[in-house]
Amino acid sequence: MKIGLLGCGVVGSGVLKIVDGMQDSSFAIAKILVRTPAKITEACMTADPDEILNDAGINVIVECMGGLEPARTYVLQALQNGKSVVTSNKKMFALYEQELRTAAAEHGCALRYEACAGGGIPWIHELERIRRIDGISSVRGIMNGTTNYILSNMTASGMQFEQALAEAQAKGYAEADPTDDIDGYDVRSKTAISAMTAFGMPADPGDIPVFGIRTVQAQDLAWGKAHNRILKLIGRAEHTNGSLSACVMPVFLKNTDILAAVGSNLNAVEAVSDTLGPSMYIGQGAGSLPTAHAVVQDLLTIRDGCLCKEPEARVPVSESGRTAQYYVRTVNPHAFADITAEKADTNILLSREITLTELCTYIEKASDSSLFIAEVEK
Ligand SMILES: NC(=O)c1ccc[n+]([C@@H]2O[C@H](COP(=O)([O-])OP(=O)(O)OC[C@H]3O[C@@H](n4cnc5c(N)ncnc54)[C@H](OP(=O)(O)O)[C@@H]3O)[C@@H](O)[C@H]2O)c1
Repeated sequence: MKIGLLGCGVVGSGVLKIVDGMQDSSFAIAKILVRTPAKITEACMTADPDEILNDAGINVIVECMGGLEPARTYVLQALQNGKSVVTSNKKMFALYEQELRTAAAEHGCALRYEACAGGGIPWIHELERIRRIDGISSVRGIMNGTTNYILSNMTASGMQFEQALAEAQAKGYAEADPTDDIDGYDVRSKTAISAMTAFGMPADPGDIPVFGIRTVQAQDLAWGKAHNRILKLIGRAEHTNGSLSACVMPVFLKNTDILAAVGSNLNAVEAVSDTLGPSMYIGQGAGSLPTAHAVVQDLLTIRDGCLCKEPEARVPVSESGRTAQYYVRTVNPHAFADITAEKADTNILLSREITLTELCTYIEKASDSSLFIAEVEK
């Protein structure tokens, strides 16, 4: 198998290291795409994507450049040229999965994406395996190590969000622009990818409601502690009666929930299926070698023979009548008077059991940029 590597940053360099270390002659990185000629330091490097994408000798492309374009165009070109693809680019894959799967199926190629959700955890593979026997009814989990690190640190020390974010950045867990992580968009892509794999129900990631932790404060974590609850950013998706419900939301988990004990920058994901019941997977959701491990596992799966299935039609995301109680911290509690079940403090209230759609109408009316919302686990 001759591999073309697009992007040699955190993930790409990990792939290079693992493949080199395997010393398997059936398996080699033949060419590496770098962004500019100035970055060429080895004979196998090129800044010309066509040199890789049109090379008949290369049969698999690993895309770990990130971003939407030109990643999508290169992956499409690779598939159209009959090359199988492994990608770690969840944002691109969640958005263009239909188009990419169609091209892969048309050209008889494999398209693998293990590293796109759960990082190093063999989550996608397990979902595929469970689905061979069982119907999966729900998936949920801590799918972002950066936010887990921030919330765990705030819970343990009582520190404010800004300080916890700065520490995460100093440790390399959070990027200089942490928007995708702290606003929940990273988890949204992973939730969409998990749902499509678990249920065969692809959805537009933009249809999944997303609430992040940008406005969380030490007092919110303190409320959780006083009520035997731990705050985690949770991606969840459920499949009921043919409809898909999904959401990304901070949740005050009960202390007894196994997910509540998963701290630091770890990820933990759970699937519930008919005969297996709940099964949970914990590990590194990011990092050079753990993520590269997932990429190389995909390469081995392709080497051992697997093609891409035709895409299934996208489905709308609905709530399926799901209700929950919500914790609301707001400078404008009056806006939530109609749905308030309990006032926990001057600015903190607990809603009655309502749907998320109903809650969103009140959020809009409150027009409070410092608002913090979290679900309170039943
Ligand atoms: N890091 C993780 O732990 C992790 C975990 C799971 C998934 N992912 C996903 O994996 C992907 C890569 O992440 P990363 O952390 O490895 O990013 P990264 O360190 O920024 O690496 C990306 C590499 O791709 C190169 N690149 C970008 N655009 C290019 C272009 N047009 N032509 C050629 N090279 C290009 C960059 O070159 P320059 O150096 O010139 O910018 C860089 O070397 C992202 O989609 C990310 O979401 C990452």
